[in-house]
Amino acid sequence: MGKLEGKTALITGGARGQGRAHAVTMAREGADIAVIDICRTLSYPRYKLANREDLDETAGLVRQLGRRCLDIEADVRVAAEMEAAVNETIAEFGHIDILVCNAGIADMALSWDITEEWWDIMIDVNLKGYWLAAKYVVPHMLARKKGGRIIMTSSVAGLRGEPGMSHYCASKWGVVGLAKSLAHELSEHSITVNTLHPTAVDTDIITGMASAASMETSALVDFIVLSHALPVKLIDAADVANAALWLASDDARYVTGQMLNVDAGRMLK
Ligand SMILES: NC(=O)c1ccc[n+]([C@@H]2O[C@H](COP(=O)([O-])OP(=O)(O)OC[C@H]3O[C@@H](n4cnc5c(N)ncnc54)[C@H](O)[C@@H]3O)[C@@H](O)[C@H]2O)c1
Repeated sequence: MGKLEGKTALITGGARGQGRAHAVTMAREGADIAVIDICRTLSYPRYKLANREDLDETAGLVRQLGRRCLDIEADVRVAAEMEAAVNETIAEFGHIDILVCNAGIADMALSWDITEEWWDIMIDVNLKGYWLAAKYVVPHMLARKKGGRIIMTSSVAGLRGEPGMSHYCASKWGVVGLAKSLAHELSEHSITVNTLHPTAVDTDIITGMASAASMETSALVDFIVLSHALPVKLIDAADVANAALWLASDDARYVTGQMLNVDAGRMLK
């Protein structure tokens, strides 16, 4: 029997990368999955976001595992789209037990070169998008009275400053404030809220950031690897998904308000 048998997980930004790994990992453990993605590219960041084919591929992988998958095109910044996505998930599955706030963007520029538009898009996707997902999912968890799990992907950039990423860092530190406040508000209802803090993960965000900074991806990776204590360049999306699985499972039922680093020892340095 899987660790998430009978559960439904709603995952944002699940068309590719870590979101896809969360979907597949949780489905493998028995959960039905609703996956949201924007499936189009915005004016910012300066790299391509996922497309419809990516979302279809995630849904196909979940279905191959024998689980149900609802794939929804929605922009996490837009309240009406998030409310509709949550309602569609409830209509399809009847309940949401696990929320993974994962949809995010990154880019690089010095603080004084960041435009107002770039700042606003970064904060809207990475922070407002997390709040909106929680805003619409939590009332359903409360009404069901069976507890729940909320997992929010912050970053090592939500634990320290990073040059050229002040808007990204501000959004990821903001996620910690949001998650810890929610953890207080929801603990009496047995709903846990925790943040994940990955180091650099081998996904399209890394190549996207490198091209935005006009760097070779290998140069960026070489720079990152210097900061790891453990001997690894980029960690895999599955490494983050396994940490999320633990937080989502009964094994972590009394873990809330925590910040779990999946950082190859980066914060040791
Ligand atoms: N890759 C890394 O090195 C790394 C490290 C630490 C934290 N993170 C965080 O992990 C999360 C997942 O990133 P990833 O590495 O899988 O990158 P990714 O670019 O592969 O995945 C992000 C997904 O979010 C989607 N998305 C972006 N804006 C959206 C919006 N407005 N509405 C709905 N969906 C939207 C994209 O289409 C994409 O599918 C992000 O929050 C990111 O900040 C990434």
